[in-house]
Amino acid sequence: MSADVLLTGATGFTGGFVCQQLLERGIPFDCLVRPSSQTEKLKNLNLKVVEGDLDDIESLRRIFPSYKALLNVASIGFGAAPNIVTACQSSGIKRAIFVSTTALFTQLNAKSKAIRQAAEEVIRSSELDYTILRPTMIYGTPSDRNMIRLLRLIQRSPIIPVPGSGTSLQQPVHVEDVAWAICAVLDNPNTYRREYNISGGQVLSYNEVVQIASQALDKKTLLWHIPVNQFMGLIQLGNSLSLKMPVSSEQILRLNEDKVFDHKAAKADFNYSPRSFAEGITQEVALL
Ligand SMILES: NC(=O)c1ccc[n+]([C@@H]2O[C@H](COP(=O)([O-])OP(=O)(O)OC[C@H]3O[C@@H](n4cnc5c(N)ncnc54)[C@H](OP(=O)(O)O)[C@@H]3O)[C@@H](O)[C@H]2O)c1
Repeated sequence: MSADVLLTGATGFTGGFVCQQLLERGIPFDCLVRPSSQTEKLKNLNLKVVEGDLDDIESLRRIFPSYKALLNVASIGFGAAPNIVTACQSSGIKRAIFVSTTALFTQLNAKSKAIRQAAEEVIRSSELDYTILRPTMIYGTPSDRNMIRLLRLIQRSPIIPVPGSGTSLQQPVHVEDVAWAICAVLDNPNTYRREYNISGGQVLSYNEVVQIASQALDKKTLLWHIPVNQFMGLIQLGNSLSLKMPVSSEQILRLNEDKVFDHKAAKADFNYSPRSFAEGITQEVALL
């Protein structure tokens, strides 16, 4: 059977879970991959891969006409959104789901912020039946590149350095909840031309994140609060000595910014009900 749905980002962290969800739901789909992508896992699942590159509009013009819907899980933070939207419109793909990020609401002038805002604007101005989903920080397995670093630190050290008071709030989301949301909106017309925050089930201070993660690991930890300017000074010193620092200055500033994003609209329109952080991090610990 030929697939109507084309998935991008299938070889990535979230994309792998989207593949699983689509397979469980019995939705036929193909994966757009780059020539350099590692596709063994997709091929082992008997998935069809088509080679292209979101930065190469000609490849999209060649591939897109075979499909009716696009699940764009690959980042729109590197400037590819105009290519994707143009190729969808010229090829007859009307339904397109885009994964963006709540990071575009940061008060910091991160490099990718303007690109992401422009990307969302291109999508909004299109004639597509689009849905924009904005996850918060995604965690859930040792491949998550964020919570895994905290878990490894807690495993190694009974004292966890915390920049500032650790009271800024965050709402990390489990990767399975993100994948669920991406698949749940696919055939749901209520979600056409709408945008949703996809945040986790618990609002937590960083202090609470460390405490809950420590409990999941069955470790006792002490929090060592270091004033933000001193923490930044240490990072700058490390950088000037060309040492590999575990966090960047930007990550420290972002940690001290509240990142709470209400998902009421997603709950109302497609019954999005994410798990608590306590449940999700326990799942991740079980995979260590
Ligand atoms: N991770 C987070 O905490 C987080 C938080 C909020 C939002 N998001 C968003 O969620 C989505 C998934 O994030 P992730 O961290 O799971 O992704 P990821 O692991 O970094 O994977 C990125 C995927 O995109 C593909 N890709 C990158 N550039 C491409 C291009 N030019 N053409 C075609 N494919 C391309 C990669 O293919 P290759 O295998 O060829 O590299 C890979 O499959 C992204 O849109 C991201 O912005 C992530």
